[in-house]
Amino acid sequence: MSKQFDVVVIGGGPGGYIAAIRAAQLGFSVACIDEWKNEKGGPAPGGTCTNVGCIPSKALLQSSEHYEHAGHSFAEHGIDVKGLSLNLGQMLGRKNTVVKQNNDGILFLLKKNKVSFFHGRGSFVKAVKADAHGYPINITGAAEDTISGKHIVIATGSNARELPGAAFDEKLILSNVGALAMDGVPKKLGVIGAGVIGLEMGSVWRRLGAEVTVLEALPTFLGAVDEQIAKEARKLFTKQGLVLNLGVKIGKITAGKKEVSVEYTDENGTAQKAVFDKLIISIGRTPNTIGLNAEGVGLALDERGFIAVDNDCKTNLANVWAVGDVVRGPMLAHKAEEEGVAVAERIAGQHGHVNFNTIPWVIYTSPEIAWVGRTEQQLKADGVAYKAGTFPFLANGRARALGDTSGMVKFLADAKTDEILGVHIVGPMASELISEAVVAMEFRASAEDIARICHAHPSLSEATKEAALAVDKRALNF
Ligand code: FAD
Ligand code: NAI
Repeated sequence: MSKQFDVVVIGGGPGGYIAAIRAAQLGFSVACIDEWKNEKGGPAPGGTCTNVGCIPSKALLQSSEHYEHAGHSFAEHGIDVKGLSLNLGQMLGRKNTVVKQNNDGILFLLKKNKVSFFHGRGSFVKAVKADAHGYPINITGAAEDTISGKHIVIATGSNARELPGAAFDEKLILSNVGALAMDGVPKKLGVIGAGVIGLEMGSVWRRLGAEVTVLEALPTFLGAVDEQIAKEARKLFTKQGLVLNLGVKIGKITAGKKEVSVEYTDENGTAQKAVFDKLIISIGRTPNTIGLNAEGVGLALDERGFIAVDNDCKTNLANVWAVGDVVRGPMLAHKAEEEGVAVAERIAGQHGHVNFNTIPWVIYTSPEIAWVGRTEQQLKADGVAYKAGTFPFLANGRARALGDTSGMVKFLADAKTDEILGVHIVGPMASELISEAVVAMEFRASAEDIARICHAHPSLSEATKEAALAVDKRALNF
């Protein structure tokens, strides 16, 4: 008889492994199946996030930022660097070490929490309905196995979306996978899609010396970001040398032996052709249900291929749940984690909850962009009366000491109640600063609440306090 578990999680990314740990904490017997392989064919849990997403991209962003600082801003601090050179092999090796540390950390955590880990692909057994032990799940990998779970949590993540006629070869035409592992700095790098990956990976390779041209279909830059913040970010990125071509229509993409050419029409409708040494295509991601045998058990997908779920992450099949990138909502690791925790708690009869209104977004460029809540354009569209307050890092003592005074903090608060409706930051350490705004919004704080809280001096967080003060036109340092 197959081994039985209370909960079987398919996928060991941030959605899956966190759901497994939380379910184990709640006293369930739990299995987690993940098929990701490291270069030696061994298990590498952590999913896209750990292997080819959040973690390796942040490692390279950090390394490339150090390189850029050493070349361009150390001198201002009185530090002369002679003979600066790039050791890309070492940089990529360090990134791989950081990834491995995270893989190993997750394996350790699963073990510590007594989660049974299976390395292989999990799939529903064709047309087999759940019995008293739940659904049987086939595991194909190093060893064939079948296990069953009273509850199944699907957390199979997403894959990079391809452009028709330009399949990823990871040599010339790169998804995030190849973009994180180029063995040399391309002289000319093309990026299709000025979204999160395009800007982060474009920044990495620009800092390391590539001429980067970004081709974006939409006429507006970072349409989901507050317009004022996006405008400021565009100005700063352009100044850094990132070429941002908006409103383009991509035509034929041809990969030669060493180069790739992209035909497109620019925003004026003029035909253009650009030739690149490498091309990153980052035009969004598609949910991954390959190999699950969803159709075999009648698991419903929505019209865009996501597993259809309700607000509680329940699928159309009893006791089958789905979380993370494979379901609707933002494709973010922390969203996947929150859903994983909430599902484990719901299985235990608790009231797991994910507040979609307070999920922060961060783009880890330099300066970073971070936000939570609604943008000014959304508030206008929703007909909400609001007050806005901004404070530039130029007037913040810590930012001056750091040598990074670009950007601002912006608060949006309800005109009548003063409740914070959105906070938007472009500037140094925006990824850390946004947490205060998330906490404030979760507790439904007013702008005045933040304005009256003592913030350490000198700190970047004083810009947050000052922006909150600016909502009532009483900023003190600007
Ligand atoms: P995944 O992380 O994709 O994990 C799914 C796992 O399931 C994978 O290991 C996969 O191999 C496995 N799997 C799939 N099918 C099966 C099967 N049938 N059987 C067994 N295993 C299976 N988000 C952020 O919040 N912050 C960031 O800074 C950030 N940076 C990113 C940078 C890049 C370049 C990319 C591509 C993404 C980034 N993301 C970031 C997004 C983030 O990686 C995803 O939102 C997150 O990984 C989703 O988690 P998940 O658990 O849903 O899926
Ligand atoms: P994205 O959705 O952020 O951006 C895709 C961009 O490509 C958009 O601007 C879109 O208009 C453009 N585009 C789409 N089709 C196009 C076409 N045919 N020609 C030209 N441009 C086109 O997607 P991206 O950058 O691929 O990232 C995927 C997801 O991964 C993100 O949405 C995010 O959820 C996650 N991610 C999160 C990060 C973070 O939190 N810091 C970092 C990287 C990825």
